[in-house]
Amino acid sequence: MGEHENGDRPPAGVDVERASIARAYDALLGGTDHFAVDRAAVAELRKVCPEITDVAVHNRRALGRGVRHLAGELGIRQFLDLGSGLPTAQNTHQVAQSLVPDARVVYVDIDPMVPAHSRALLPDDGSTAVIAADLREPETILGHPDLHKIIDFEEPVAVLLVAILHHLHDDEDPRGIVEAYLGAVPPGSPLFVTHFCSSSPDAPALEKAFHGVLGTGRFRSMEEIRAYFDGTDLQPPGVVYLPDLYPEVPRIRDFTVAGRLMAGGIGVRR
Ligand SMILES: C[S@@+](CC[C@H](N)C(=O)[O-])C[C@H]1O[C@@H](n2cnc3c(N)ncnc32)[C@H](O)[C@@H]1O
Repeated sequence: MGEHENGDRPPAGVDVERASIARAYDALLGGTDHFAVDRAAVAELRKVCPEITDVAVHNRRALGRGVRHLAGELGIRQFLDLGSGLPTAQNTHQVAQSLVPDARVVYVDIDPMVPAHSRALLPDDGSTAVIAADLREPETILGHPDLHKIIDFEEPVAVLLVAILHHLHDDEDPRGIVEAYLGAVPPGSPLFVTHFCSSSPDAPALEKAFHGVLGTGRFRSMEEIRAYFDGTDLQPPGVVYLPDLYPEVPRIRDFTVAGRLMAGGIGVRR
């Protein structure tokens, strides 16, 4: 069970007997930072949603396009990437710095694999940091000294909650958590959210499968996803299925199943 995809020993604190969100997502994206238990979880998800890999790929592509929009169109230079995931191709700092060379990014993730792998890959130039923390504790993160070394809270900060809020249960108050982060950044700061969406007929079965293998995965309605943006000016095209979020070329075919399982958008704090 504990055999790592690339043969390495797992970092301290990593539980190789329980599937993790970060590692299962890495397996879906074709990375190497996962274990047999994560691959088994993905196989279970694939039984109810054969397009599950495409769901992850749609999300990761939307993350890249969203960051390009934030840096390129909105001129944002600071990013707080909450639930950032294991580093893979086109991480937030790489996309942002390709457009804004002095862009600064703080990554936050709860998974013990993430800091170990991220630190090895991040540039050692003071433009990025990774904090191992639980985003459900905004006060801890917002008071973290490493955050304040990188981010200037007098200037706009993009708050990224990409493919993470659906892993928060209703009783964990995901909207209140979003509000806490938005309350800490100045007006003009964008919020970027992507989220599992319940409007597809395939959503209920996949939601059940996620709960079975990972214990989380709440598919919320378009209205519920839009409500995260209260207090912001929602940017065109609004909250939409991910293939329609800042597409590089217009979509010319109907959505596949995978295309309708997640939605997202960007709003700018008033
Ligand atoms: C599906 S991945 C998304 C990664 C990246 N944002 C993306 O969209 O490509 C969700 C990430 O959130 C992390 N995560 C889950 N619960 C968390 C929490 N309470 N605090 C911080 N990170 C969390 C997981 O470890 C995982 O890396």
